[in-house]
Amino acid sequence: MINIAILGFGVVGGGVADLITNNKKEVEELGGDSINIKYILDLRDFPDSPFADRVIHDYSVIANDPEIDTVIEVMGGSHPAYEFTVEALRKGKNVISSNKEVVANFGDEFMRIAEEAGVCYRFEAAVGGGIPVLSPIISCVRQNKITEVRGILNGTTNYILTKMFTFGDSFDNALADAQARGYAERNPDADILGIDACRKIAILGALVSGRLVPTDKIHTEGITKVRHEDVIAAEKLGMKIKLLGRCVVTPDGLYIMVAPFMLTSDSALSCVSGVYNAVEVVGEPIKSVMFYGPGAGAGPTASAVVGDLMEIMRSGRNCAIPVMVKDEGSALSFDGFKCRTYIAMKGGCMGCVADAFGEAKAISADGEIAFLTEEMSEAEINAAVSKLESKGIEILSRIRLL
Ligand code: HSE
Repeated sequence: MINIAILGFGVVGGGVADLITNNKKEVEELGGDSINIKYILDLRDFPDSPFADRVIHDYSVIANDPEIDTVIEVMGGSHPAYEFTVEALRKGKNVISSNKEVVANFGDEFMRIAEEAGVCYRFEAAVGGGIPVLSPIISCVRQNKITEVRGILNGTTNYILTKMFTFGDSFDNALADAQARGYAERNPDADILGIDACRKIAILGALVSGRLVPTDKIHTEGITKVRHEDVIAAEKLGMKIKLLGRCVVTPDGLYIMVAPFMLTSDSALSCVSGVYNAVEVVGEPIKSVMFYGPGAGAGPTASAVVGDLMEIMRSGRNCAIPVMVKDEGSALSFDGFKCRTYIAMKGGCMGCVADAFGEAKAISADGEIAFLTEEMSEAEINAAVSKLESKGIEILSRIRLL
């Protein structure tokens, strides 16, 4: 029998306890042993829960119990998740996390400590919820020359953008609907400002490159500036707008970013709707492979957490994820990133556009001028935009093309 402790009895913690209990036969057959949820750490009591007798409030009981083999950290936030994780690893306990914030901030350190202590640190649930993505990338894809990992990494924003496209909703209405359905938090900033997706692309980038870029070095834009007019323009072009996390791997380093992108229907990511997530890995010789599924929720996230536990029970130390190093130098300046860009503006004329951008393709738009640039670097676009603004022209939107 192995004894485990769950840190945090919220949506994910409850989902983990339920999965281990409800799927007892499956998990014990797969793991090769029985599992005892010995402790559940939370600030609250849960008198009506079938797990009420396991709930404790003092972490030191878990850290100092030599019977605890694996700690499941599903608390969220950086602290005290960081301190609890370090202590558990140092005391020779495996740690599994669904907490993308703590993985993005300290994953390199946790892996180093885990390696020294001869235990595992795993975090499949931190990216893409229930989608198996980290393990397949490590086990099945890393032998390729990977040129990019990208994805729809946030279900809330994908739901909002889908509503804006399917029903013509404004951003504000779509957000209110996402909140009413419980997808978006009352304070939705981490989702709509791209912060959540930024943590996830930092983790994915580290898995394909071995370099964990600090989140403050990742160019991050959310979806709050996407307008109804942009949705109409994208539809006219046969495109969709999606919030993407992208880590482009070049011989010189990584272009790593989160921003809304316009995608043609050729892109498999353009078909990912609602709260679903998808991660696409591009490389040679595999070309492109995509992982798709539910990116959040108690059941799917618990599935990924318990999958890590199964891996630890089956493979022990051999299931460690390759160590990554924190390396802000590997992130290239975003100024050098090149792509085509959609721009909408108020005032001016296509003559001014040609003067600032050279070649550009006009798009018909009501009451504003919209166009697609040729492939240009961010620095070139910035300079051309400044030229237009110096003539009193207002830039209404700027969305890159995938
Ligand atoms: N807020 C996140 C999302 C939850 O909407 O995708 C899962 O990480």
